[in-house]
Amino acid sequence: MPDSPFDSIEALRASLGASLCIVGHHYQTEEVIRHTDIRGDSLELARRVAEVTAEHIVFCGVYFMGESAALLARPGQKVHLPAPAAECSMALMSSAPELERVMNRLCHSGRKVIPLAYVNSTLAVKAVVGRYGGAVCTSANARRMLEWAFAQGDAVLFLPDMNLGRNSARAMGLTELDQYIVDLDAFAPAGRPEADDAAPSAADRARLLLWPGYCSIHTDFTPAMVSDMRTRHPGAKIIVHPECTPEVTRAADGAGSTSFLIDYAAKAPDGATLIIGTEVNLVRRLAGMHKHRLRILPLAESACEYMAEITELRLLALLEGIARGDSGLCVRVAEELKAPARASLERMLRACA
Ligand code: 13P
Ligand code: SF4
Repeated sequence: MPDSPFDSIEALRASLGASLCIVGHHYQTEEVIRHTDIRGDSLELARRVAEVTAEHIVFCGVYFMGESAALLARPGQKVHLPAPAAECSMALMSSAPELERVMNRLCHSGRKVIPLAYVNSTLAVKAVVGRYGGAVCTSANARRMLEWAFAQGDAVLFLPDMNLGRNSARAMGLTELDQYIVDLDAFAPAGRPEADDAAPSAADRARLLLWPGYCSIHTDFTPAMVSDMRTRHPGAKIIVHPECTPEVTRAADGAGSTSFLIDYAAKAPDGATLIIGTEVNLVRRLAGMHKHRLRILPLAESACEYMAEITELRLLALLEGIARGDSGLCVRVAEELKAPARASLERMLRACA
């Protein structure tokens, strides 16, 4: 009989065989990620999940990731989450009714505004985006998708991560003057004192409208931390995730998705020191993987408490349920959201094929 969670999970994986595929995001702990068949950043996971044929897809990640997987799953496939209550706090910073209201007001002026939603958003938000002709993006393709969105209309509403939006805009050569951070109070529901018949004029002029959302894990990093690390480790390269503020990405030597950070470490010359500004589980993993040739340190120890809700014991409990035939645990997508939300995701997959 297996006597540790590790052995029990591996025994269940073996007995469920090809009917099971476990996928996990790079921010998972070592105890969880070691059990995965597929690991990746959000873009890779969306692409790979669409190709999986197993009946049960177990997604070790936060809720929006499971929702996207369920949307891309084939008929008969079930997507399960070890911790269904674990949601990314940034994904909850925009809601479908609020987005609908903002889009309505922005379109009052007659401009064609294209919404572009970071994949870290709810399925209901993705459905609104899909209905307005917009698309989804990830941190790996945000700049490319921003270019795509500008080609579809007069202006773009980027949501919910204003920092990813601002970093991608800078890479495209847009200035601060082209951008406007949406004041959600000015788009309050009719009847509230702040409500106005027309969108504010600054919003009417800006080419890029930014939803005021952010990741609390990545906004913990500051430019002062970057300069402190430069003083303490002269010659080190500092790389960060683009959910960091533009002040931090500007001070760093490079910024990109979790896969970019992994590739950067893989290609770094022997003996180099790397300081990485992203979720600490990934930084620790990279430090361990490259310990014989690189020195890798976190810019600061910033952990995602939502990703941490997926534990080895919860994964084990889920697999035991699947093996018993418990099918009540899978992610369900409301029928009316399927077509518009899928349209927004598929526009991204087509534009970045
Ligand atoms: P990546 O798509 O870069 O893996 O990022 C997902 C995420 O949630 C980062 O905080
Ligand atoms: Fe969400 Fe930030 Fe956690 Fe990523 S690190 S899942 S954006 S809260």
